[in-house]
Order: sequence, then C-alpha cells, then structure tokens
Amino acid sequence: MPSLTERVLSVLTPVFDDIAPGADPVLRSSDHADYQVNGVMGLAKGLGRNPRDVAIEIVAKLDFGDLVESIEIAGPGFLNLTLSTTALTSQLDDMGSTSSLGIARDPLEPVVVVDYSAPNVAKEMHVGHLRSSVIGDSLCRLLEATGATVIRRNHVGDWGTPFGMLIEHLLDLGESAAVANLSMGDLNTFYTQARAKFDADDDFKDRSRARVVLLQGGDEETLRLWRILVAESVRYFDAVYQDLGVLLTEADVHGESFYNPLLDGVVADLDAKGLLVDSNGAACVFPPGFTNREGEPLPLIVRKSDEGYGYAATDLAAIRDRVETLGADKILYVVGAPQAQHFEMVFAVAQMAGWLGEQCEAIHVAFGSVLGPDRKMFKTREGGTVKLKALLEEGTERARSALAARGAIEDIDRVAHQVAMGAIKFSDLSTDRQRDYIFGWDRMLAFEGATGPYLQYAHARIRSIFRRVDAGDAPGELLLEHEAERALARHLVSFPDAVASTLETYSPSKLCTYLFELAQSFTSFYESCPVLKAPDAATKASRLALCEIAASVLAKGLNLLGIEAPERM
Ligand code: ARG
Repeated sequence: MPSLTERVLSVLTPVFDDIAPGADPVLRSSDHADYQVNGVMGLAKGLGRNPRDVAIEIVAKLDFGDLVESIEIAGPGFLNLTLSTTALTSQLDDMGSTSSLGIARDPLEPVVVVDYSAPNVAKEMHVGHLRSSVIGDSLCRLLEATGATVIRRNHVGDWGTPFGMLIEHLLDLGESAAVANLSMGDLNTFYTQARAKFDADDDFKDRSRARVVLLQGGDEETLRLWRILVAESVRYFDAVYQDLGVLLTEADVHGESFYNPLLDGVVADLDAKGLLVDSNGAACVFPPGFTNREGEPLPLIVRKSDEGYGYAATDLAAIRDRVETLGADKILYVVGAPQAQHFEMVFAVAQMAGWLGEQCEAIHVAFGSVLGPDRKMFKTREGGTVKLKALLEEGTERARSALAARGAIEDIDRVAHQVAMGAIKFSDLSTDRQRDYIFGWDRMLAFEGATGPYLQYAHARIRSIFRRVDAGDAPGELLLEHEAERALARHLVSFPDAVASTLETYSPSKLCTYLFELAQSFTSFYESCPVLKAPDAATKASRLALCEIAASVLAKGLNLLGIEAPERM
C-alpha cells in the first residue's frame, strides 16, 4: 500500500522530469498546507526561467485526480498542496485494516546484520552498553517491520589477555565460590580483585601470563574454566536483557572468540592480496587517507608483534563471516562514537580486500555518551561503573511511587516496570543518537513533555475510552468535519513516512518526535471533539474510529522503540 507521500510523488515526479530530466520536486511537509513543493525555484534557475512561470506551467500539468483538493502557488514559487478529505479517509481506512499500519516493505528484502550491545565478559555492563542495546534493538524491530531479515550479533568481549588473570583468580577463589560470586551478578568485584592481584603480585602475574598462553593454545582444562566465566556472564547479560525487554538471546552471542578460527585466514588473504606491511614486527594494513596527528600514515594492526590478534583482526573476520556466510547486504554497528575511526579503518581495509565490495554496506551507527548531572561521564558517586541491573531496579521503584502518587491502579508492579523501562528507553532514543545526554530520573519519569510515560499514558487514556463506550457503540465511517479531526488524521497517515525517515538515518529519535507530536495532536482533538458525548451517532462512530487508529499507531510506534504500551495506567 503506497503512502500518501508516495502517491503525491508519483504525480509530481513525472511532471518535473518532463521539464528537466531527473529534477527533484523536493516534497516536504508544511505548516501552511499538507505538503510543500520546494523544487520549483531550483528547477527554474537551472533553466534560466522565471520561477513563477515554471510554477504555473507545472500546476497546469499536474493531475492529482481526487488525491489533492487544492494547489496554491506561494512566494517566489513554492507549491502548497492540500490533500482531499477522501484521500485521507481512504488512506486511514487502508492503514487501519493492516497489521503493519501501512509501513512500507523494503522491496529488496535485505539481510541486515545488526551488531549491538556487546558487553564484556566478567565486567559489568555500563550505560554505553545500555545505549547500544536500546538503539540496536529498536533498529532491529524497525527493520523487521519493513520485511528485512535481521540477524542479531552480540559481539561480546570474551577473549584476550585479561582472561589469564581472570582464570587464575577463579582458581584462587575456588571454582564454586567464584561461580557463586559471578552468579550474583558481582562481575566488577571479580574483575577488580583479579586486576589488583595482577598489579601487586608478581607470582600471580606470571601465572596469568602462562594461562593466556594455555588459553590461546587451546588447552582443554583452561578452556573449560574460560567457559565458566563466559557462561556466568552471559547468564547475567541475559537477565538484564529480559528486564529491559531487549530481544537478544544467547543464540545471538557470537563473541570475539567465535572468530578465532578465522583469523589466520584473514592474515593469509590480506597477505596474498599484497596489503600487509610489516611494522616493527606487527602485521599492518595502511588504508589510504588515515593519518595520525603528525600526519604519518596510520596502520590498522591486524597481528601484533607478539603474534597475538587484536580487536581489529576480529572485526575483519566478522565482516567476512557476515558477508560470506550470512549473506549480509548491510551490517550495522551500534557502537559508541569514540570508536568511529576504528570502524572507518576496518571498513576501508575490508573494501581493499574485496570483502565488502559492492554487495554489502557497513555502517557505524554511532552514539554519544550518557552523562551524570555534573555533565561528566555517568558514574557512581565513588567513580565506579553504574550497575545496570541496580539502575533498572531503581527506575522501577521510582515509577512505582510516581504511579501510586497518581492514584490506585491495578497490577501496579507490572505497570511500574513497563513505565520505568519505557522512561529509560524513550529518554535514550529521543535524543539525537550522536549527541550526549544527561541521565535524569525526574525528567524521564515525568508524565508531561516528551517522555515515555507521557506516551504510554496517552495510549492508555485512549484505551480507557473504549472501556466506557455504551453497548452498541462501535468505530464507524470516518467523517473528518472538525479541523482537529482532520489534523489528527493527517498526522496518523504519515506514520509510514516517520518509520521510513527513521530508518533512512538509523535515528529512532525521529520516530520519538513523530509519536510525541501524534500524542499532542490527539490531545487537541480530544479537547475540542467530544467522543463519548459526540453530538450524533455518526460523529461518535467516526471519532471512535479515529481513537482506535490513534491507539494502534501509538502502540505500534512504541513497540518499534521496544517500549510496552500498558492498557491502563
Ligand atoms: N565490547 C566492546 C565494548 O564494550 C564493543 C564491541 C562492539 N562491536 C564490535 N564489532 N567491535 O566497547
């Protein structure tokens, strides 16, 4: 089902194309009408003609049928388009009758690998992993809604030199005591203790180093101990995902270790293609265009001088696996902005080696940091990592008090949890992902303003209308006589556009803005158009229909953000 925007474009584009091949009408939403066409001036300039004359010529050629009610030439040559009421009602009817609510399917049906969350074994997840998990999950949901095949990859840090000390610490504590510690989710204490011993005790340091060698050499007993650390950590991550309502499961975990068997092949292939350069014993690739502060070429280190492989080699192997084995058309990396250069270099090298090629696009979906009230990195008062699990619990407690203060509600524990997760996720997703944001409970849990609870409440309030209808009342034919009804309808039909533009730049904040404005538009409608006390039966049926679609769009939109929409609040 084409959106109204697509239908409008399908009339505009050929007329523009006829005057100057390839000319873009530059269709935008407008404050003055439903749409504004901004492309006439550019077109006229290119032809050396008067823009108003060109506008008149275009208007004469446009045949919108009953799609558009009026076209107005404004200013130097803008076109203002007003959709007809029948176009709006029939589009809304079509939207309401599909479970996708009109979201367009991607005709290419791409396979998209989404690399997100990626915490590190035996370390607490921090707010950076929260951002990655929340943004990544929303993108997966959005992509799936457009018919893409989404493959989730949780690239956990489960390999490397720290595992020597972690395994030795596990042995010192005794296996069962260590497991008991870890299963309580006390990952940071475990890590910090191991680190402290490593720094203070030479014997422990030697043992740790020997243990790394055993681990890399595939010693069975060492691997068994390593697997305990990984399993306990993954179990902990899983509990956080469950709590947050993030769709990642254990099956999506393909940690750094997964790519070990592929690393030799990466080096061999780069070597065969003549891309490897020896730099003080390290095997490097120098992708063109990357320099350090001194202007010297910057290497991507594939194999270190001690023969060990690092982060970059693993990411190169992962690209090959994702393209060659998984058949990825796109790979999204939902990772913090500080890793931008790492990914640019990895993608550049993968291009040089022909692993990405024409067939696959790799995109770093970067995000900014979460800051504390002091505008510094969000940390505990003692300067430690904020424990994600504790954070989620605190949110639920706070949401519970906020709800209780508003009056008694059924099932308060469940709703408080839904509201808390909604608040945390919405405050994260609604900030332009590139920007930093300050973590603040009061703001995110407020029932006013652009917050999760406000949207959840807007949805629950519409549902409550349906609990109060008289027997025999049902949604019926849409009429759109009142200005506020039309405005709401206009907003509702642009839901598919909001989804499309969100995915164009992988910016869930666009969908957040859309939903917030929709809730506001609903409020204006509700204030000026009584529903249950509508003047006559036909108006009531029409308004109920508007309410029904508005509730569905809000619930669906929240769902695409990974936020639940309680029926009552
Ligand atoms: N584990 C890393 C961290 O905690 C993030 C990994 C991101 N993904 C990747 N393919 N490199 O910072």
